[in-house]
Amino acid sequence: MLSPLLPLLLCVPLVSCKCSDPSPAFPVPSWTKQHKDDSLASTFHAIDTALKSIATDDQYDTTSFSVSLTSETETLWSHHHTALKQNATRPGTTHIDNQSQYRIASITKVFTTLGLLYQHSAGNLSLDDPVSDYIPELNSTSAIPWKDITLRLMASQLSGMPREGNWADLATTPFDPTSVGLPPVDREDLNLPACFDPEVFESCNWTQILPYLNNKQPVFAPGQKSSYSNVAFELLGLVLARVTGLSYEEYMHESIFKPLKMESTTFKTPESDEHAVLPLGQFFWDVDEGIHNPTGGIYSSSADMSVFLRYVLTHYNALATGVNWFMPASWTGLRSFYGMPWEILRTERILEHSNRPVTFVTKGGAVPSYFSRITVMPEYGLGLTLLVGGESSILEKIQGAVTIPLVRAAEGLVWQDIDTTHSGNYTALDKELNSSITFAASAATGLEVTSFISNGTDMFDTLLSTYAQLLGIPKEAAWRVQLTPTLLFKNETSQEGEIWRMQIVRERTEDGPIWDDFCLVDVDPVSYAGEPLNEVVFWHGERLVELSAFRRGAVDASNPRYHLGHITILAQPNGEERKYSPTSEEPAHTACMRHNEQ
Ligand SMILES: *[C@@H]1O[C@H](CO)[C@@H](O)[C@H](O)[C@H]1NC(C)=O
Ligand SMILES: *[C@@H]1O[C@H](CO)[C@@H](O)[C@H](O)[C@H]1NC(C)=O
Ligand SMILES: *[C@@H]1O[C@H](CO)[C@@H](O)[C@H](O)[C@H]1NC(C)=O
Ligand SMILES: *[C@@H]1O[C@H](CO)[C@@H](O)[C@H](O)[C@H]1NC(C)=O
Ligand SMILES: *[C@@H]1O[C@H](CO)[C@@H](O)[C@H](O)[C@H]1NC(C)=O
Ligand SMILES: *[C@@H]1O[C@H](CO)[C@@H](O)[C@H](O)[C@H]1NC(C)=O
Ligand SMILES: *[C@@H]1O[C@H](CO)[C@@H](O)[C@H](O)[C@H]1NC(C)=O
Ligand SMILES: *[C@@H]1O[C@H](CO)[C@@H](O)[C@H](O)[C@H]1NC(C)=O
Ligand SMILES: *[C@@H]1O[C@H](CO)[C@@H](O)[C@H](O)[C@H]1NC(C)=O
Repeated sequence: MLSPLLPLLLCVPLVSCKCSDPSPAFPVPSWTKQHKDDSLASTFHAIDTALKSIATDDQYDTTSFSVSLTSETETLWSHHHTALKQNATRPGTTHIDNQSQYRIASITKVFTTLGLLYQHSAGNLSLDDPVSDYIPELNSTSAIPWKDITLRLMASQLSGMPREGNWADLATTPFDPTSVGLPPVDREDLNLPACFDPEVFESCNWTQILPYLNNKQPVFAPGQKSSYSNVAFELLGLVLARVTGLSYEEYMHESIFKPLKMESTTFKTPESDEHAVLPLGQFFWDVDEGIHNPTGGIYSSSADMSVFLRYVLTHYNALATGVNWFMPASWTGLRSFYGMPWEILRTERILEHSNRPVTFVTKGGAVPSYFSRITVMPEYGLGLTLLVGGESSILEKIQGAVTIPLVRAAEGLVWQDIDTTHSGNYTALDKELNSSITFAASAATGLEVTSFISNGTDMFDTLLSTYAQLLGIPKEAAWRVQLTPTLLFKNETSQEGEIWRMQIVRERTEDGPIWDDFCLVDVDPVSYAGEPLNEVVFWHGERLVELSAFRRGAVDASNPRYHLGHITILAQPNGEERKYSPTSEEPAHTACMRHNEQ
């Protein structure tokens, strides 16, 4: 069997089998009303109980918060908490709801970057232009190599420029530096622009700050390593203003807030306190951030942020040619990355039944008394808004209390649904042929092929095991044939003909060799007669599965999809529907292992 396949298969990169759990593993679920009222309801109930318990802690007496979860189409669940203690003279809203307004601080960077993507797409600028093309005041007199710093590097926290322009210099803060061990300084001797006033946040303007920036030192060479920068986004706001001829704030309003109908979203302090979240002791609500607006100036509500997240969830790969907005740009840790300007966690520690990584695309924000984070879960089609007014430490508690049970419940439901819609034993329409294929779905193994007979030949004994061997999987090692969705359809217009690819996946072993973690993805290794050998197409309407490369021979004139030669289209099943319950015992990984024995 080996010899005829060798010439074809030898070109396969030997490492392509190592990824133990392909991700994404399923098409983006569309969360229906039934999910919301039925299966997810108990999860939301448990999360509500957990959040109530967190909020009862005395340290959060002055803390209010809003949490809201949206699918691609609608808000699925929300939870609002009003602080026990509020300012008697100026309480702001006394009933937190989805209209309540918070400062969202650095989440503003996501909006600034979206504006940048729009302008890139319109051809008004290029992400790969140096910032000095738009801000010539940043020039060669500086130690910072402005001409090598592109807009893309700035939006990706890879510019290497300093964190701040005129913020965060302790010498300008009102406290006595000597009380914390810093040497005394004479403000008059400082080489700081006169506008550095600790009490007034909008005090500096660009005329004063640009020459000062030229005097600063770089943190890293451009593109070398990532480090958080606020001033990078302030400069991007200036670029947007110069390119569009509008003020930055007007441009955000015209290009984002207005089209998305985000009516509670603004850079100006809302005129009325009716919806204002004003935690006791806050002093930042009324601050006009001035030139800092592009890095952290927005006020918004959880309802508006959910609208925004729905837009992002459905457009992230269609905003500008060559840009998938959720992709990382640099790593910041083992499991964390900076995107543009997203803060991404990709962890294999969350799912209970597999090591498949789950990706959280987030952006956080913090200004005094206001802490926030949006979290997009693109694989699940979910977006979470978390807005806090009060104590910062509650944010991580809520983040964990919501996302972990949510993702685990969503994962269970996904496989329950896929088991219903995809699993089963499909046999050839042409009853003359001894051809059949069986799919099974579980949270542990994803959607996998558990048997595959083609015209009397067991494919696990021939092509599949030969291929596994050529991928470098030792004979004694366990592997399975898992399906990974391409998210493409044979008919994109009608969204019919859902295309998946079979992949040979080695079962992950605890404490395997270090290089087992080295995963290169290749889902298109080999074709047969011009068709991808591993392509599987589900035609749900007809309950049919099509194996593209096995589609030889005559076409049935009455239906061009029915090729009558080989396996062609296989009809669903004789098997009954099986239900997967996330709490039940996981099926053992035996099916393929048995097939793998030779
Ligand atoms: C560099 O820019 C500063 C303002 O930011 C300006 O004062 C200076 O003249 C410029 N120098 C050159 C060489 O263009
Ligand atoms: C910036 O502030 C300085 C000092 O107040 C003022 O002279 C200058 O006109 C301002 N520039 C702009 C562009 O507003
Ligand atoms: C491109 O810039 C011009 C002004 O420079 C502006 O009129 C136009 O609206 C911009 N295009 C978009 C799509 O924003
Ligand atoms: C309460 O609000 C008043 C009026 O804005 C303000 O002067 C005072 O400092 C606030 N007190 C606290 C503890 O936040
Ligand atoms: C806000 O909450 C109200 C009351 O629960 C609800 O009717 C409304 O649909 C919500 N709006 C949004 C945008 O979520
Ligand atoms: C699938 O169905 C065919 C036809 O009934 C049968 O021959 C085959 O054994 C079945 N395969 C499995 C795994 O049940
Ligand atoms: C179909 O092929 C399989 C694999 O070769 C074989 O085990 C099975 O007996 C065949 N079934 C029939 C009905 O011939
Ligand atoms: C794709 O679907 C659309 C809408 O249902 C239909 O009009 C069209 O004929 C389909 N295209 C093909 C190639 O089947
Ligand atoms: C099935 O196998 C037989 C021989 O084993 C072969 O003659 C025939 O062409 C095959 N048919 C298809 C559709 O693969």
